[in-house]
Amino acid sequence: MKTLRMLAALITIIVALSGRALSEDQCLTCHAGLGDKESQGYAHDIHKAKGISCAGCHGGNAQADDMDKGMDKAAGFMGVPHGDDISKACASCHSSPEKMKSFGSNLPTNQWEMLQTSVHAKLSTNGNEHIAQCITCHGVHGIVSVKDPRSPVYPLNVVKTCAQCHSNASFMRDYNPAMPVDQVEKYRTSVHGTLNAKGDPKTAECASCHGSHDIRAAKDAKSRVYGVNIPATCSGCHSDAERMKEYKIPTDQFAKFSRSVHGAALLQKHDLGAPACNDCHGNHGAAPPGVESVSKVCGTCHALNADLFSASPHKKAFDDRKLPECETCHGNHEIVAATDKLLGVSNDAVCSKCHRPDENPKGYAVAKTMKSLIDSLETASDTAASIVNDAEQKGMEVSEARFKLRDAHQARLQSRTAVHSFDEQKFRDVVSGGIAVAAVVAKEGKTAVDEYYFRRWGLGIATLIISLVLVSLYFTIRRIERRQAEK
Ligand code: HEC
Ligand code: HEC
Ligand code: HEC
Ligand code: HEC
Ligand code: HEC
Ligand code: HEC
Ligand code: HEC
Ligand code: HEC
Ligand code: HEC
Ligand code: HEC
Ligand code: HEC
Repeated sequence: MKTLRMLAALITIIVALSGRALSEDQCLTCHAGLGDKESQGYAHDIHKAKGISCAGCHGGNAQADDMDKGMDKAAGFMGVPHGDDISKACASCHSSPEKMKSFGSNLPTNQWEMLQTSVHAKLSTNGNEHIAQCITCHGVHGIVSVKDPRSPVYPLNVVKTCAQCHSNASFMRDYNPAMPVDQVEKYRTSVHGTLNAKGDPKTAECASCHGSHDIRAAKDAKSRVYGVNIPATCSGCHSDAERMKEYKIPTDQFAKFSRSVHGAALLQKHDLGAPACNDCHGNHGAAPPGVESVSKVCGTCHALNADLFSASPHKKAFDDRKLPECETCHGNHEIVAATDKLLGVSNDAVCSKCHRPDENPKGYAVAKTMKSLIDSLETASDTAASIVNDAEQKGMEVSEARFKLRDAHQARLQSRTAVHSFDEQKFRDVVSGGIAVAAVVAKEGKTAVDEYYFRRWGLGIATLIISLVLVSLYFTIRRIERRQAEK
């Protein structure tokens, strides 16, 4: 009995409270009666759920059930906001920590501020307002939490929201005729875009790479998609093992990339010529523009290596076996500086992975020869260099020989690229040029050293002769003096 009576009392209180809340928003009561789409949309709006009346954005007196009193300018009614007044109306709460706290909210209060720093804070073509207002992305009269699948910025809908402008060629032309309008089209060809279209909210969409309120131009150094910042943007998801668990792909790309020659050049030296994730994987599409697949991307920068590879016997051999071109020997994320250790038939050499005396033996023989050619070139250069050093220390003039030595080093550098022909004769041509130069340099150095010794011996003998002459002169003078004294 007692519990029933308490329950009844509770229901009475709830009914009374909700009745009061409704009766307080006379704007809504009257407009709902009019059946307009604004009040219909407002039924599921997050602001209504927070007890915010129509007057929260439009101003006016929400308690008045009379239209003129309610929508009275004196009571703060502002009518329908336009242009920047729209975002200002939103910011009157969303940029005020006190107001937001008074509604029990602890959301960030920086959206307006961030929007002002973004590329979307550009003026629209009429020059009166900014391109994007809060409602451009969030809608109005029916605004829901950004985590609600009905929100226009929910991951599955945001693409469409950005596309209303970015896929609209005639709209974009007015702002920037050079701006591509194919982002969505390309995005749909990528793994991200395909999964997104299938209803997976966890892959990357426009806002996960570009941000939301503080979107900047790609060439702005503070942009999330600026070369140096890209690896961190991608690794926000790709290094998060928990988030990526269900996809069963590795989460070590960033860690490996950071240790690679490319990562060191980009992240430490800020060398924008070195690839960031998007240079190999593309910005929006499945691969960068003009590249048929990610495994062919290296040639966009290392063109010489790629050309040699394409003309080499490995081209067909790798294609037949569906082996990726450069990755097979160099890897992809953890590419390290290449050395001649890769070459030859030792256990660490990449060639030995596929070439053995009993397996693809011709390659085995060529790998062995190539390595021994490099060894000969290096030995020849080292010998030549040490002879030239020796001569120089002895004070001999060998600048010309030293200059020629550069050609031998140059041949070694060329040989590193020439490897990719995987052709013994072509490789030999490059290397033997270097060996010949080294031999000439060694000979010139040796001549200089010989001359040094020759000069030293010559000087010694001359000194000896002069000393002998002096000594005999001395004795002759003494003898003459003695004779004169005897006289
Ligand atoms: C008693 C009914 C009633 C009440 C109360 C009322 N309105 Fe209205 N409102 C109307 C009608 C009818 C119109 C359309 C006629 C017009 O455009 O003047 C209208 C128009 C509007 C418009 C569009 C104005 C324009 O210039 O197009 C806005 C905005 C609006 N109301 C907001 C409010 C707000 C906010 C409140 C509460 C502070 C409120 N209304 C209270 C009946 C009401
Ligand atoms: C969160 C802020 C906000 C709230 C709350 C809000 N409005 Fe609005 N309302 C706007 C904005 C912004 C516009 C201008 C929309 C535009 O330019 O497309 C607008 C436009 C309107 C218009 C004009 C529509 C037209 O097509 O010209 C009416 C009528 C209106 N609101 C009525 C209401 C009513 C009634 C309520 C309460 C049920 C309400 N609004 C609650 C922000 C709000
Ligand atoms: C009267 C104060 C007030 C005004 C004006 C206002 N808001 Fe809000 N808004 C709130 C409050 C309070 C919440 C709920 C916050 C929470 O759940 O923590 C909210 C929530 C939101 C959310 C959902 C955030 C989330 O949880 O994901 C969006 C989006 C939003 N508002 C956009 C707008 C836009 C756009 C305008 C202007 C057209 C606007 N607001 C005007 C107070 C306001
Ligand atoms: C270019 C589109 C765009 C514009 C313009 C925009 N927003 Fe957002 N907003 C988003 C996206 C996307 C999210 C989802 C969260 C995220 O990824 O950061 C979001 C999230 C939010 C949230 C949830 C809390 C948060 O900060 O993440 C609020 C509140 C909000 N926006 C309010 C506003 C207000 C107020 C304005 C105008 C000053 C505005 N937004 C303008 C795209 C936009
Ligand atoms: C109201 C139309 C509109 C909407 C909606 C919009 N944008 Fe834009 N966006 C533009 C315009 C206009 C530019 C500026 C073009 C210029 O002048 O260079 C721009 C510029 C950009 C740029 C800078 C491009 C560059 O490198 O110069 C990025 C990135 C961008 N928008 C991403 C987005 C994303 C992501 C969304 C969705 C969350 C979005 N935009 C929503 C109109 C819009
Ligand atoms: C996986 C990350 C990622 C996603 C998802 C993504 N972008 Fe981009 N976006 C980039 C990168 C990286 C660049 C180019 C940076 C550069 O040029 O160096 C870029 C460039 C842009 C540009 C400048 C013009 C251009 O095409 O180069 C616009 C506009 C843009 N994106 C809009 C969008 C829109 C709209 C979406 C959603 C369909 C989207 N982006 C999705 C990473 C992304
Ligand atoms: C919002 C999180 C998120 C961001 C940010 C993100 N990705 Fe992804 N990415 C995913 C998810 C989830 C998958 C799906 C994994 C799968 O099914 O293989 C994926 C798939 C991929 C794939 C295909 C993997 C495969 O299966 O072969 C590549 C490549 C990729 N992302 C590269 C990037 C690059 C490059 C960036 C930055 C420009 C980036 N991603 C940013 C979440 C993200
Ligand atoms: C030098 C080019 C290059 C760079 C830079 C690069 N990748 Fe890759 N990535 C590749 C290649 C090649 C593959 C193998 C693709 C294939 O075989 O289809 C790959 C594979 C992937 C995959 C699929 C899963 C896996 O590990 O095999 C993901 C995810 C990925 N990369 C993300 C990234 C991210 C994130 C970055 C930046 C931190 C990055 N990549 C930098 C070339 C690169
Ligand atoms: C069969 C194994 C193999 C393949 C396939 C291969 N490389 Fe190499 N690469 C090597 C070896 C071995 C060296 C080191 C030679 C040395 O230091 O003597 C090297 C050196 C390099 C170097 C440093 C020397 C230079 O030219 O600047 C680059 C860059 C390079 N490779 C890029 C590529 C690219 C791009 C591809 C794909 C088109 C590729 N490699 C395919 C084995 C390979
Ligand atoms: C965006 C251009 C770009 C792309 C794409 C690229 N690289 Fe590089 N790569 C560079 C630059 C720049 C360096 C020099 C880095 C430094 O300063 O050490 C480099 C260095 C290297 C080296 C070390 C060279 C040496 O002297 O030892 C190898 C090996 C290499 N890249 C292989 C690859 C492979 C394999 C791919 C494809 C999976 C690839 N690169 C994709 C620009 C690129
Ligand atoms: C991933 C396996 C693989 C690696 C690693 C590899 N090769 Fe090959 N190579 C092949 C295959 C397969 C053929 C084709 C053999 C055939 O058709 O008989 C081939 C052919 C060759 C040929 C041509 C042989 C002929 O019959 O004319 C040469 C030369 C060669 N490789 C040298 C090398 C050198 C040098 C290295 C190390 C830098 C190397 N290969 C690394 C798989 C590989």
